[in-house]
Amino acid sequence: MKIGVIGTGHVGLVTCGTLAHLGHEVVGVDTDAEKIAQLEAGKMPFFEPGLQELVDEATQAGRLTFTTDIAEGARDADVVFICVGTPPKASGEANLAAVEAAARDVARNATKRTVIVEKSTVPAGTAGRLRRTIERERKDLALDVASNPEFLREGKGVEDSLSPTRILLGAESDHAFEVLCAVYKPLIDKGCRVIQTDIATAELSKHACNAFLAMKISYANAMARMCELAGADVADVVEVMGSDPRIGKDFLGVGLGYGGYCFPKDLQAFERLAASLGYDFPLLNEVARINEEAVMAAVKKVEDTLWNLDGKRVALLGLAFKPGTDDTRLAPALGVARALIERGSSVVGYDPQAGANAKSDVPELEIAEDPYEAVEGAHCVVVCTEWPDIGSLDLAKIHDAMAYPVIVDGRNIFDPKEMAALGFTYLPAGRPPIVPT
Ligand code: UGA
Repeated sequence: MKIGVIGTGHVGLVTCGTLAHLGHEVVGVDTDAEKIAQLEAGKMPFFEPGLQELVDEATQAGRLTFTTDIAEGARDADVVFICVGTPPKASGEANLAAVEAAARDVARNATKRTVIVEKSTVPAGTAGRLRRTIERERKDLALDVASNPEFLREGKGVEDSLSPTRILLGAESDHAFEVLCAVYKPLIDKGCRVIQTDIATAELSKHACNAFLAMKISYANAMARMCELAGADVADVVEVMGSDPRIGKDFLGVGLGYGGYCFPKDLQAFERLAASLGYDFPLLNEVARINEEAVMAAVKKVEDTLWNLDGKRVALLGLAFKPGTDDTRLAPALGVARALIERGSSVVGYDPQAGANAKSDVPELEIAEDPYEAVEGAHCVVVCTEWPDIGSLDLAKIHDAMAYPVIVDGRNIFDPKEMAALGFTYLPAGRPPIVPT
């Protein structure tokens, strides 16, 4: 099939590579000329494991090309996926201007019956608006609208896209549904489940999933606060909770909470959607509040232990919003950095991939090339992202390099017994603190 993909961000670019891998002829479109030039030169605009190989395979096979010209993506296309950004407005609502512009331009340039698919996360009701936009442009051509939300995670995007947990298809016509089933045929043949719904249900389901996952994380973080107050151990509490299959063990990881470009913005947009529909959904605001509290709980531990932060040096290990990515958008680590800098501390950070992005977000942050350089002379270390290489550091070497051996573990990656044996003051989230006597 001939497929256009509008937007080459984390979702769009992985989608380009995956669809080409499935055997389709794909044109990736982006208005950012610099990004397209980079992609044409074979360079990925961000770090995502396996993406370089996937895109290289597709371009070398001649099944994937890139352009800034949306007409090229729309011409002769059976399907066009809209994967453009939906950033938050000041009110928290999703800004859908780029989605509208993409649909309008695809409709203007379509040369045959094309299924225009929302893949970007959009509020329920967006497809109705798109339909009106498209009809205004083209009365001469039958164009279909569909919703096919993406569930890939950054850092595991390629894996998730090639082996999805489910394919959600919200379609308004049999034609759109059949075309999308043909797009994903190789995955469906391998046993991947297809869930067919109407469009509004597909749109709403995506927000429902992200908001629920964020709620699980915040629930676990609220348990961490409760455990700190009650002298209990949250590691055991989430073990007990997670061993009940009705609860499930995933997304009960406590610490600094969630960041990134999806959960914070989607939660806000979902709350705004609820309000616009006349449904009061304060649970979502509470989830966000607990998430902010998680960052401040770690900052408070640093402050309580070091007393005055003026003249103190704090090292942050991990700056990306999660391991496996160089993405620092709304990364909890940067919240910690800003709060500590505001309180007078000097802050140095290390991340295997995200140093440059963190520096451009927080220019006062010093960036170290390796973790041992970061901790040299530090009065406190805060573990912000659980990269595997941070979990396997030589802790005795870290202890000796630090001015004060204090670790605030914002992801609970270390073993308290080992930290006690090494003589650290060790302050995990929701677990009893280790304070040498
Ligand atoms: C999330 C969803 O997991 C994807 O299914 C969805 O497709 C994507 O948003 C999206 O809407 O595009 P992503 O933001 O890439 O994916 O990352 P997650 O793995 O979900 O992690 C989100 C945040 O939660 C990270 O900051 C992570 O550190 C944090 N987290 C995750 C926890 O604090 N605790 C956990 O137990 C799990």
